[in-house]
Amino acid sequence: MHLTNEEQAILDGESGEGAQKAMELVVALGKIYRADGLVDITSAHLSGASYKTIGDGGLKYLEDMVAGGAKVSVNSTLNPIGMDRERWAEMHISEDFAVKQNRIVELYGKMGIRTTCSCTPYVGPNVPKLGDHVAWAESSALSYVNSMIGARTNREGGPGALAAAILGKTANYGLHKDENRRPTVVIEADIGDTLFEHSLLGQAVGMRVGGGIPYYRGIRPGIEEGKTMAAAMAAAGAVAMFHVEGVTPEASNYDVSDLDVIHIGKDELKDAYEKINTVDDVELIALGCPHLTEKEIREIAMLLKDKEKKGDTEIWFCTSKEIRDRCADEVKILERFGPVLADTCMVVAPIEGTFSRTGTNSCKAGNYLPTLCSQKAMCRDIVDLMKVIS
Ligand code: F3S
Repeated sequence: MHLTNEEQAILDGESGEGAQKAMELVVALGKIYRADGLVDITSAHLSGASYKTIGDGGLKYLEDMVAGGAKVSVNSTLNPIGMDRERWAEMHISEDFAVKQNRIVELYGKMGIRTTCSCTPYVGPNVPKLGDHVAWAESSALSYVNSMIGARTNREGGPGALAAAILGKTANYGLHKDENRRPTVVIEADIGDTLFEHSLLGQAVGMRVGGGIPYYRGIRPGIEEGKTMAAAMAAAGAVAMFHVEGVTPEASNYDVSDLDVIHIGKDELKDAYEKINTVDDVELIALGCPHLTEKEIREIAMLLKDKEKKGDTEIWFCTSKEIRDRCADEVKILERFGPVLADTCMVVAPIEGTFSRTGTNSCKAGNYLPTLCSQKAMCRDIVDLMKVIS
């Protein structure tokens, strides 16, 4: 693996301990994946931000990085954390958790990372361009930018993305290279136009293609459909990139006539639905996986505006602080039913201390609620979920 003189000097410790540790990690990953060298990146998105997921070991790692003088050198944003920084008490979060969580965010801030705490930075402060090399963690977001924008990132882990953000470089392998962005299978999709059907489509495809690169025909996803599909495919399988005919900028670069074709219609969506629905009544409904966009908040407000809250089921609406601030009128309507939470989500928050059955309209959450939060999950269309609480 080729390193320039400048890169070798960083590896030798001439730019400080933080940069040296970062280079050691990026070079180690590059050797494992047989990278030919490093490539400059324009942005990074970091996961590993919730105290629930990284614990005291992760907190210590971040303390050490800050003590070593680590600073990011490109636009870098942060994934959701374990609580709303202002409204954590409404989430049944303990003070001890809140103190440690706030320290984690503070440490990321000291390294120059924007503490946006959202998994949809591509609708706000971090929008890569076609052809940009980036280093993104967060499986839904990195698949979105590869597929819907045509930026280039591998499926980075939290420490790898942080190291790349510090260096402004990542190892040049995998989805950074044209030859690895080829579709591996064609998906003929025959589904309706609701968001939930797109989520189930992602689930059904993820279950079938594992880590492949599907090439879709028959759909025209916008931002919301693209994000829910990306999330579901990454959770049900390990898809880091997909093509959609007429949508993905690179889709027309490839001849797919020799690829296997998989048909996904009503029967396959029903299989996917049955796989992730394990309960019919819930204590919590959590929307916003990935984080709700402005359009989704307006649509939910339309559904709820003439309704009253009924029953004991709690409801959380998860989004970014920026979008919550932008939708002040709609947020007032939603708040009659439950908190509109920023910075966090139902999966990275410690909900298992309070709830055991959770409803969602996201197949990604439907996969992770049982495994990461000890929940039985109900995964339904948003219209059906709203009937539970209104
Ligand atoms: Fe985002 Fe949490 Fe879902 S980080 S994609 S809302 S699991």
